Amino acid sequence: MIMRLDNINCFYGTNQCLFDVSLNIEKGDVLVLLGPSGAGKSTLLRVFNLLEIPKAGAMHIDDQDFLFDLPVNQSDISHLRQKVGMVFQQYNLWPHMTVLENLVEAPIKVKKMPRELANAKAAELIKRLRLYDLESRYPLQLSGGQQQRVSIARALMMEPEVLLFDEPTAALDPAITTQLISIVKELSATGITQVVVTHEVELARKIATHVIYLEGGKIVEMGTADCLSSPTTEAFSHYLSH
Ligand SMILES: Nc1ncnc2c1ncn2[C@@H]1O[C@H](COP(=O)(O)OP(=O)(O)OP(=O)(O)O)[C@@H](O)[C@H]1O
Ligand SMILES: [Mg+2]
Repeated sequence: MIMRLDNINCFYGTNQCLFDVSLNIEKGDVLVLLGPSGAGKSTLLRVFNLLEIPKAGAMHIDDQDFLFDLPVNQSDISHLRQKVGMVFQQYNLWPHMTVLENLVEAPIKVKKMPRELANAKAAELIKRLRLYDLESRYPLQLSGGQQQRVSIARALMMEPEVLLFDEPTAALDPAITTQLISIVKELSATGITQVVVTHEVELARKIATHVIYLEGGKIVEMGTADCLSSPTTEAFSHYLSH
């Protein structure tokens, strides 16, 4: 098991937005988080790389354990983020850097990867994510789908064990969505664990190995991808029927 949450409780000010969330994720799983707007999907996703720090509960990831009753140490967070990468909805590429520079910057600065090695790794990912001939372009000279693939490549440069996606297909055309689906499957086959937030049930059906359905900050249903075709709760069944 690569990741476990135990009784996670999160607040924004005095408003509680996650209630006693517990879950397990195994290596290579593709966990899809579904639920209505405001259910807490993005918040839960952000807990996995501690962009959101819970008020209570515990998290185990790989070789790290966090107990949120105690203050979290910044160097532990940095260590965690090297293993848990995030592909943001706004792709967050550095606008003043070329595609290649976007890819090699963090590995060289943060991971102290030698430049030669970083360049070689970037070349491999450029091929894998079908970004040929775009190395010297700037982010603004790329389409939305290309920016997204650069963003995925940039996250993969850090050799993460877990990759988080928040609504990766929002505003993308169907062809690019199809490309993303094959990328997610490819990554899963290489043992990278992925957590994906989406509103699209069809996308969930294509990529999920596991599903969590949230409402009002609580897990209503959780299971393998089978629950997309045979939900056990009325609430999830109702959600899927729309
Ligand atoms: N920065 C914030 N400050 C205060 N409240 C917030 C903040 N971010 C989210 N919330 C609240 O926390 C709850 C969960 O929000 P979250 O963004 O996790 O929902 P979501 O399921 O991702 O929704 P959506 O599908 O609309 O993206 C909501 O009630 C939301 O209003
Ligand atoms: Mg959200």
